[in-house]
Amino acid sequence: MTTSPRIAVIAGDGIGREVVPPVVELVDTLLRHDGVTARWTTLDWSTERYLATGEYIPPGGLELLAGHDAILLGAVGDPRVPDAVSLGDLLLRIRRHFDQFVNLRPLSSLPGVTMPLRDGAPFDLVVVRENTEGEYADIGGRVHAGRPQEVVVQTSVFTRAGVERLLRFSFQLAARRRGVVTSATKSNALRHSMVFWEEVAADVAKDFPGVEYRHVHIDALAAALVRDPSRFDVIASSNLFGDILADLGAVLMGSIGAAPSGNINPDRSQPSMFEPVHGSAPDIVGRGIASPVGQLLSAVLMLDHLGLADQARRLDGAVRAALASGDAVTPDLGGTADTGGACRAVARVLGAPV
Ligand code: NAI
Ligand code: MG
Repeated sequence: MTTSPRIAVIAGDGIGREVVPPVVELVDTLLRHDGVTARWTTLDWSTERYLATGEYIPPGGLELLAGHDAILLGAVGDPRVPDAVSLGDLLLRIRRHFDQFVNLRPLSSLPGVTMPLRDGAPFDLVVVRENTEGEYADIGGRVHAGRPQEVVVQTSVFTRAGVERLLRFSFQLAARRRGVVTSATKSNALRHSMVFWEEVAADVAKDFPGVEYRHVHIDALAAALVRDPSRFDVIASSNLFGDILADLGAVLMGSIGAAPSGNINPDRSQPSMFEPVHGSAPDIVGRGIASPVGQLLSAVLMLDHLGLADQARRLDGAVRAALASGDAVTPDLGGTADTGGACRAVARVLGAPV
């Protein structure tokens, strides 16, 4: 366990600035109560900063982050800057620089929340998405731009090392959970990349005889996820497939505002980054109604990663209890709570008023 973890905090843009400060305060209170003093570094990396200085990450910024055990991020994105610039210059740079090759997205049903699936059974699954290569390897180009013979090529990259480490993480995770890995594939149409993916997966599966392994084509998998998410435990997927499945799963939880994620460097040699799945939500910014649940559950993942498993479990339980009581249910989840009220409700359950 880390007794005084160093945590960098980037609230970012939009509702990130509304949900991050109360969540940091809550986590800090929880840790102090247990004699753990977190050292927080608050960073103003945002679109405001970009518009003022031309940079999201100042010179030396990545080196500064490297001295931390974890990064807690809100959201990035602002209508004044193209999304490709804000995401690319801040988020993707951090993910790549620290080789955060696992994008971990736990998705579970929440109490007290209006869910879109009628009669849906409770579910608890994790999408483990490859975060550094695959379809998002960013290799390609365009020739004859603007002419009738214009050609665009965009290539996926799957390396044995990259696929194997992602699958190995998935099997290890499943071994600690309910012991089932579903691998998202499409080997009938993607007859190079996905055939290779399946070969590597079958090799890794041999090392985990106690874990059940199956592979399902991505289209059928998406349909099965909507039909009955309770059938899944760990879903291992490429970058693109996991991106889509995770948003689908987040909506099944009731709101994209409730889903957490971790960008993980499993060997802990470099910091991992924890952030809600949602963006900066310009349509509701300034109204004080953003759900802090995605941010809170991202903090749960962070505490777990830092070896603070007991605090992670208590925070997770408090979020669920506060939702069940209705006091933490914001409008997107079918309730009337505001951001501050939802955080106070969680703090009350923890017995740590903020
Ligand atoms: P979004 O997630 O910001 O919003 C989608 C819808 O969900 C909106 O109606 C919003 O009001 C609602 N919503 C999201 N989070 C909520 C919360 N915590 N509580 C209540 N309602 C919530 O996605 P959108 O609108 O596509 O993107 C807005 C900006 O955010 C763009 O600039 C985009 O690039 C950026 N973005 C950033 C991400 C990140 O930082 N990782 C991820 C997704 C989008
Ligand atoms: Mg996405």
